[in-house]
Amino acid sequence: IRILTEEKPLLGKKVLITAGPTREAIDPVRYISNHSSGKMGYAIAKIAKRLGAQVCLVSGPTCLQIPYYTDSYVSVESAKEMFEAVLEKYKEYDILIMCAAVADYSPTQSAQEKIKKTQDKLILELSKNPDILEFVGKNKLPGQVVVGFAAETQNIVENAYEKLMKKNADVIVANDARKAMGSDENQVYLVFRDKPTIMVEGKKEEVAKELLKRVCELL
Ligand code: CTP
Ligand code: CA
Repeated sequence: IRILTEEKPLLGKKVLITAGPTREAIDPVRYISNHSSGKMGYAIAKIAKRLGAQVCLVSGPTCLQIPYYTDSYVSVESAKEMFEAVLEKYKEYDILIMCAAVADYSPTQSAQEKIKKTQDKLILELSKNPDILEFVGKNKLPGQVVVGFAAETQNIVENAYEKLMKKNADVIVANDARKAMGSDENQVYLVFRDKPTIMVEGKKEEVAKELLKRVCELL
């Protein structure tokens, strides 16, 4: 029994993960998005399940197969939809891992009909989307552990620490957006509130395993 529980440190725990990009509609045929593949979030879901957790994956559109290894899977498109899905569920979960590359802005008005190329210049007005990580960080229940990500292109650890404090997360997984997006591997810094930063490098599943091991220590 001891060996079994050691191998499954997340037994009895519920983990909610967001993954992938979001798409913000410009008109019925166009959208704003980013290069996120969803691989990191799906890897975390897979490893969390392997470590014994009950897993819910809230995913934006990806090319990945709908995973067999989650207990619940919610498919969303826009940041707003992702926010609503997380809002509805987050209170039931012990660990919240906000891995998605959520679009920061979306068109203030999405056109009902396809926009025609009649103008030489087209100005799109964008409005800021709700910050899902910041919401769960600031509204977390006692005992809940909140993990955020930080996609940076410079001053990775400093910027990540700022996000950690601003959003009241417990850990930020900071990575170089240029290296991480789309790749099967990742190099990340695990930035904590009051513990030294740890560098982890390897396949996304290996990074997921190390992250979840550290999260267990915070439970
Ligand atoms: N995030 C979120 N909701 C948003 C934007 C970001 O939940 N609307 C989350 C991401 O899932 C990630 C973290 O916030 O866990 C950091 O995302 P990142 O894009 O690195 O940082 P931002 O806070 O959006 O700041 P900026 O893009 O200006 O660096
Ligand atoms: Ca952002």
